[in-house]
Amino acid sequence: THHRTGILARFKKDLPVTEKTPPLSLCEGDTPLIPAPYLSQRVQAHVYLKYEGANPTGSFKDRGMVMAVAKAVEEGSHAIICASTGNTSAAAAAYAARAGLRCVVIIPAGYVALGKLAQALAYGAEVISIEGNFDEALTIVRDVAAHEPITLVNSVNPYRLQGQKTAAFEIVEALGQAPEYLAIPVGNAGNISAYHMGFAEWNQTRQSGVPRMLGFQAAGAAPIVNGQIVAKPDTIATAIRIGNPASWQLAKNALSESRGAIAAVTDEEILEAYKLLAQREGVFAEPASAAPIAGILKHAAQHPFSPDDKIVCVLTGNGLKDPDTAVSSHSVSARAVEASRAAVWRAIAEGKS
Ligand code: F0G
Repeated sequence: THHRTGILARFKKDLPVTEKTPPLSLCEGDTPLIPAPYLSQRVQAHVYLKYEGANPTGSFKDRGMVMAVAKAVEEGSHAIICASTGNTSAAAAAYAARAGLRCVVIIPAGYVALGKLAQALAYGAEVISIEGNFDEALTIVRDVAAHEPITLVNSVNPYRLQGQKTAAFEIVEALGQAPEYLAIPVGNAGNISAYHMGFAEWNQTRQSGVPRMLGFQAAGAAPIVNGQIVAKPDTIATAIRIGNPASWQLAKNALSESRGAIAAVTDEEILEAYKLLAQREGVFAEPASAAPIAGILKHAAQHPFSPDDKIVCVLTGNGLKDPDTAVSSHSVSARAVEASRAAVWRAIAEGKS
């Protein structure tokens, strides 16, 4: 069977889709679940990568945004707004363009990866940057949307999590049942909550099981792990540079209901996992997406998994989103040589330095 019809058509029965909901789609979803042999060997269990970087704008946000924008159109809205560390703005801009809506995005100046900013501009969004972090930007857009005729499409809009829960359905379809563990990066904490909702809903109707949720925050932006708001969050994984997650309570519920856990990984561990993922598995994901990889390696060292366990790591965003980190995190870059066979072969013979 071949899908790629987009999630609204494909999971209509499980979503708040009515006769009045426009059939919005950029053929999001239906992303690959890639087996990870190297990581499986490292943690002595079966590791899979849910590659959300294969979505139309390169992140999982497309699933939530198609639902939120379709409902905004259904409700007669003409404009949407969001705060973003980059991926939400890229998705909002794309679906707004497709639906013919105005799109305004508020971003923290200097902390949005280049590819994401390029996308928001390319899709024609109105980009406003503030001298403040994501948490401050979110406070502002919530305030604006409460007073002005513009629809908020951050994950506090409940349609976002509805759309995002469909990734859990796809994992159950691919594996025949839920895995034992779902490892995921946590920023504003919407996605971990959406996955848990998706697994729990299908478990109700299909007895497919609910995985233990393993959430990972960056050590410099770990409010849920530490149990307190982080006023000045900082991490190389700018996507999850968040100090006061909007879905904090929902995430806590998902963690306790699934008997899961949340832990922090350092920027060093994130970067090591980021490189290992690309160089050992051939899968390029952005730094935030490497947090669950770093996380399961750390987890396995402390509490070994069972050999039959299946662990799905959600790779939330494509590696191409953040070209600056890709280039700067490698001490070796392209070697410049003279344009001749001899010079090129000499460089090859010298080997990788
Ligand atoms: N991974 C990536 C690549 C993200 O862009 C985000 C969130 C997350 C993980 C965390 O997901 O917030 O649901 O816990 N990005 C948001 C944005 C904040 O604006 O693009 P979460």
